[in-house]
Amino acid sequence: MMRACGMDFGTSNSAMALPDLQGGVTLAPCEGNHGTLPTALFFAAAGGAPLVGRAAQKLFFEGEEGRFMRSLKRLLGTSLMTQATVVNGKPRYFDTIIADFMKYLRTRAEVAAGAPLDAVMIGRPVHFVDDDNAADQSAEAQLAAVARQAGFTHVQFQFEPIAAAFAHERRVAREKLALVVDIGGGTSDFTLIKICADYSAKPDRKDDILASHGIRTGGNDFDKQLSLAAFMPLLGYRGTYGEKNLAVPLAPFHDMSEWSKINFLYTPQQRREMALILREAHEPEKLSRFTKVLEHENGHKLLAAVEETKITLTAQTATAAPLTFIESGLTAQVSREDFDRAIGGNMADILAAMDDCLQSAQTDAANIDTVILTGGPTETPLLQDAIRARFPRADISEDERMASVALGLGHDAHRVFK
Ligand SMILES: Nc1ncnc2c1ncn2[C@@H]1O[C@H](COP(=O)(O)OP(=O)(O)OP(=O)(O)O)[C@@H](O)[C@H]1O
Ligand SMILES: [Mg+2]
Repeated sequence: MMRACGMDFGTSNSAMALPDLQGGVTLAPCEGNHGTLPTALFFAAAGGAPLVGRAAQKLFFEGEEGRFMRSLKRLLGTSLMTQATVVNGKPRYFDTIIADFMKYLRTRAEVAAGAPLDAVMIGRPVHFVDDDNAADQSAEAQLAAVARQAGFTHVQFQFEPIAAAFAHERRVAREKLALVVDIGGGTSDFTLIKICADYSAKPDRKDDILASHGIRTGGNDFDKQLSLAAFMPLLGYRGTYGEKNLAVPLAPFHDMSEWSKINFLYTPQQRREMALILREAHEPEKLSRFTKVLEHENGHKLLAAVEETKITLTAQTATAAPLTFIESGLTAQVSREDFDRAIGGNMADILAAMDDCLQSAQTDAANIDTVILTGGPTETPLLQDAIRARFPRADISEDERMASVALGLGHDAHRVFK
């Protein structure tokens, strides 16, 4: 008999879901008792197999020598996937790195299932890459190849927001028109779907899915914008240098604000270039902080402080982020207004994509019965307010915010692979 599971391979967090014989689904405890784990790896300089999840984060943030990786999903569909990166002196390809991570998930889930798992329903964003079908298809093909490398013999894909709807509809007695708003680390995805507990047994849901749409904007972009607005200026961003008042290059600051790009800054060439500019910088006390971060490879630590600030600002209206690992006494003062302003452009894109989804089904916002919110960034107050204003009549469901995609993939795996 084939044993199937669901896999939510997320930009920031991942989870494995196991269907049982009674039609229920549970998350496999993949790290200790945790059902979800950070999509992160750490290759210790001392060698050995890479650590994953919280264990990887812990070692790295405690200052252990080695190479830390996050946001690997963002590389799917880009040319970086086929490139090697030097890890502790040895070239490694990103597909094998992702396969290592998936193998870990599969092994943990097999322990929980007490049986080998050969079939997997993997969640995918509606678009891995915006406006580029070829790149989007290659992203899916790359992910399928990685899943086979990790030992799965049967691999299928489901849109992440549709999976979230499958998880929710088990509690819905009468048909409802639902809009799923799935905002993750890397993408914002929307699906308009008719949901009802009875429908979950249907072999085909094509007629119930009225529209799906998504863009490559998510919580990682919020981190980036907040970093550029409130942190990078303390490190010399937008400064000038030399007699001719030249602008300090912007690209290194942008890369330092993006999880998937930080590692590419750690080259002798980049350090040399910044050191030369520092000599002529007009505000060397600021720019020297940037060169220090480069030198000590503290980029992930800095962006983690940005992310923590963002999350703090969902509950508080102002905060001070300590940056003492850069310089003693250094802090970034940030208010929720600063944050809202920084992500204004991202928010406009997300809301426009949501409207595109409604429009492609020619549905008015007033027809929506339920809005299903899933993914970490749906806690953002600015987004919550915008959704409530747009759908005053709908009930807003926030159950299983961090797990509904994975649980729905488990249900779908059960349906498709039985
Ligand atoms: N309370 C919060 N407020 C705002 N953002 C949050 C909060 N908690 C987590 N986040 C953000 O949520 C994001 C991760 O969400 P999630 O785990 O749903 O994404 P993912 O499934 O890994 O990504 P994707 O679905 O795009 O592949 C991160 O950017 C994180 O900073
Ligand atoms: Mg997700």
